[in-house]
Amino acid sequence: MIKLIRGFRDILPGDVELWQDIEAKARVLLENFGFREIRLPIMESTDLFSRGIGTDTDIVEKEMYSFPDSKGRGQTLRPEATASVVRAYIEHGFAGSDPVQKFYTIGPMFRHERPQKGRYRQFYQINAEMYGVASPLADVQIMYMLHLFFTGLSVPDVVTHVNSLGCPECRPKFRDALTAFVSDKTDRLCSDCQRRAKTNPLRVIDCKVPGCKEAVEGAPSIQDHLCQDCREHFEAVIKGLDNLSVPYEINPRLVRGLDYYTRTTFEVQTSLLGAQNAVAGGGRYDGLVKILEGKDTPAIGFAIGFDRLAALLGAEEKDFTVPPPLFVAALGAEAQKIAFDWLCAFNAKGLRAEMDYEGKSLKSQMKQANRFRVGHVLILGETELQNNKAVLRNMDTKEQVEVALDGLVDQVIALINQG
Ligand code: HAM
Repeated sequence: MIKLIRGFRDILPGDVELWQDIEAKARVLLENFGFREIRLPIMESTDLFSRGIGTDTDIVEKEMYSFPDSKGRGQTLRPEATASVVRAYIEHGFAGSDPVQKFYTIGPMFRHERPQKGRYRQFYQINAEMYGVASPLADVQIMYMLHLFFTGLSVPDVVTHVNSLGCPECRPKFRDALTAFVSDKTDRLCSDCQRRAKTNPLRVIDCKVPGCKEAVEGAPSIQDHLCQDCREHFEAVIKGLDNLSVPYEINPRLVRGLDYYTRTTFEVQTSLLGAQNAVAGGGRYDGLVKILEGKDTPAIGFAIGFDRLAALLGAEEKDFTVPPPLFVAALGAEAQKIAFDWLCAFNAKGLRAEMDYEGKSLKSQMKQANRFRVGHVLILGETELQNNKAVLRNMDTKEQVEVALDGLVDQVIALINQG
């Protein structure tokens, strides 16, 4: 039998209802905040990601699904959406009409990571991206929106970590201080961090490997290296969060795995998902539009890990199937024919109804209705046909009422809607 590819997953009925609910709530909130949906392809030129995310990141170095097209041009299944949204922002000239634009997009991403709980090779994200606002108000609004979303869903055990990664002005100085700090500790670092110590030393300070954590204790803090502008920006963000009562923890070790970040970065973390503790992450990326050959435009955004959010809300333990309100049980060929017409009419009028298609006994049809956990069963047997009446049984109260066959569909819908 052909099975799923490792690291890929099916989201089945029973779980998918929770996903639909999360997605519907996300759309309402994002649109209330002025974000408009943008739908993007899942495949882009490889260059977009290597230039956008950074060649020294784990994603670009080892996690991309890249392959040449028939002419040998590199293309990649998107590992994230931000670079694609920036490409679309530039390509469709949004900056020309109004540089301030807010977009959201929901869909699958692909990273060739080692699969484990909460980590998949195809996973889903809800992304929000905002362009053209350099003010810290944008940072506050974005983080406030994320906070509202998580509290609205009553997500358990989440903490928002926030940091500033500085700007091209102050970060190089911090990078130098860090490089000097780790230079005599490389033998204590994991093999990834030994490489990162040279290429991307910031990543060393948020490595999860215990040996690395110990080695970087006492490392210089980015918070002590921010330039005046970055410091003021960060302070304004913190003040804004306080004013709106958004809880956070300042975490000078929060670095993020993508190179495009500047200034504010944040991550929503949980302790309930083992090693995969980030449920959402984001920050400012003021340089990215320019790197991708657009006009210099400030930008900020985040992505929520949909799979992890659904896991936190219990998708794997609970069954979120919504039972149909009605089962139509018919006995005999004539009754079954009528029942099928009713079924189609109920469905067309927006009432979800089910029936047995095989002409089974009434007993087994009632069993089937119970399995569906329906609210009502509409019964049409030979006697009912003769009397020109069907019986509507409330499965909770066991009460039964007779309904005339003439005009039955609307009558039944009205009775069910009454409760
Ligand atoms: P990221 O931190 O790489 O950021 O991913 C965001 C979220 O996607 C993570 O916090 C996590 O919940 C989820 N995620 C990442 N990888 C996996 C995986 N292999 N399996 C399951 N879930 C995963 C970004 O992607 C940035 N583009 C976010 C952003 C938007 N920054 C600014 N705008």
